[in-house]
Amino acid sequence: MNSERMEGILSLIPKSDIIIDVGTDHAYIPEAIIKRNICKKVIGTEINHQPYLKAKDYIESKSLDDFIEIRKGDGLNIVQSDEINVVVIAGMGGLLINRIINENISKISKGDTLILQPMNAVDKTRKFLIENKFEILDEVLCKEDYHYYTVIKAEFKDKKNTSKNNLDYITNEMLFKKKDKYIEEFTNKIINKNQIIIENIKKNSTSKNKINELENINKKLKELLKKYEFEVYN
Ligand SMILES: C[S@@+](CC[C@H](N)C(=O)[O-])C[C@H]1O[C@@H](n2cnc3c(N)ncnc32)[C@H](O)[C@@H]1O
Repeated sequence: MNSERMEGILSLIPKSDIIIDVGTDHAYIPEAIIKRNICKKVIGTEINHQPYLKAKDYIESKSLDDFIEIRKGDGLNIVQSDEINVVVIAGMGGLLINRIINENISKISKGDTLILQPMNAVDKTRKFLIENKFEILDEVLCKEDYHYYTVIKAEFKDKKNTSKNNLDYITNEMLFKKKDKYIEEFTNKIINKNQIIIENIKKNSTSKNKINELENINKKLKELLKKYEFEVYN
């Protein structure tokens, strides 16, 4: 399956002897990992019975069952600590991703890598990673059908990070620094969306807290755009 989102995910996966793909669904991610020689063995986990059967059938139909094993169960509950080296969790909500990692965080060792593609609440996933001794090594934005997707690569360092405030998780300065292809349009889209919400709150209520929060976010995003010489659209 060729898609920009998939390419973004694959671009951040390091070579490894074994890779876990949590929530594998159709098993397209394990298939692409094997076909690109990123690793020799992938374990795909799937909680729901129908996608589990679909993934197994698909892997057999492509004669990939020597390289890809599909297991049924919740997240990382069904893998052993020594099978964890690189874990991909893509296409799920950020809070669900956090829950899946947190439930089995004791199985994750120093140097293990996570490749995460949250569909929403990306700030919550960044916060979770920083608060749980991971370092965010890289991020990439992808765009498909007018939707933007963030992919995060993080390594477990087992070392406490300096604390940040919530504003620091809204975006990642790294994306500006490395001149990510979509960071300018994506950031301007967020600023515009926040501005619309601010106008609506002003019309319909007197609540100042949410307005302040969104104004602070927009201020920070505009500062980053300017710092890295991107355009602020309005
Ligand atoms: C939208 S699909 C994403 C498929 C694929 N990872 C991708 O990015 O293209 C999400 C899949 O995760 C599965 N899933 C949700 N929660 C899960 C969990 N706790 N453990 C394993 N699989 C889960 C769902 O059944 C579904 O098949």
